[in-house]
Amino acid sequence: MTDERGASANVLEARGVVFTHGTPPLETRVLHGVDLDIAPGELTVLMGPSGSGKTTLISILAGLLRPTRGRVVLGGSEISAMDDAEVTAVRRRTLGFVFQAFHLFPALTATDNVAEVLALSGTPIRVAREKARALLTRFGLEARLDHRPGELSAGQRQRVAIARAIVTSPRLVIADEPTVALDGPTAASVMELLREYVSAGTSVVLVTHDVRLVRASDRVVALEDGRVAYDGRGLAANPHGAPSGHDIHPPTPRSSEPVAGPEGA
Ligand SMILES: Nc1ncnc2c1ncn2[C@@H]1O[C@H](COP(=O)(O)OP(=O)(O)OP(=O)(O)O)[C@@H](O)[C@H]1O
Ligand SMILES: [Mg+2]
Repeated sequence: MTDERGASANVLEARGVVFTHGTPPLETRVLHGVDLDIAPGELTVLMGPSGSGKTTLISILAGLLRPTRGRVVLGGSEISAMDDAEVTAVRRRTLGFVFQAFHLFPALTATDNVAEVLALSGTPIRVAREKARALLTRFGLEARLDHRPGELSAGQRQRVAIARAIVTSPRLVIADEPTVALDGPTAASVMELLREYVSAGTSVVLVTHDVRLVRASDRVVALEDGRVAYDGRGLAANPHGAPSGHDIHPPTPRSSEPVAGPEGA
């Protein structure tokens, strides 16, 4: 899809997304009509209390879960109207996803967990492995390239999962709590690398409770009880970014936290 100016349009558009668990009379409505657009080259932090619907929402945005009502357009394709095979194809060419529980392949080494997605998209395995090693090395995992997930710490597995999501340079990366297992400096280096991808045009949506990430964000969206309660500029917003929110002041981060983005590193 393109906009009136013919410029590249939003990588993601969600309209009136409703999600309900169960069937009447025992249904629980988790999302109450969420609208969300994600522009190219924008880093959005999605926050909100536990149970507010963040994981449910990103699962729908990623085509992993079907909305009860509403539309989701990912990379120009209306995934909410497609069958599973079509959604998988759109996801493969558009999206990198980091699961809250990582979902790495247990039998593959760290390198091959990352190389596998490149190989799936046609990259020769030797080249894929080289690229995977380089990315994992950026994440400080050069001594763990040949370890399997069961031989890695939670923070190391988390970095492998992030590397796997970004290695194809997808148009959109969605990550659920991507820094929860990381110490401050490691989280900062992950955010620095993500900002490099954003500068190159990738859009990133991070679900987090970690207020440090707000500093590296262009936009902050908060969910409350399955509704967008806040949509405003993040602390790394710049005039060329496309924060589409209303002009609400972002939450004030704690001043003792290290600055996560490359600007302040
Ligand atoms: N199978 C289910 N049946 C009914 N309600 C469910 C089911 N699964 C999840 N929910 C409800 O959906 C709501 C949203 O859950 P979700 O996992 O999206 O929250 P979240 O914002 O990601 O929370 P957290 O920060 O704890 O990860 C929760 O209130 C939860 O109780
Ligand atoms: Mg969650």
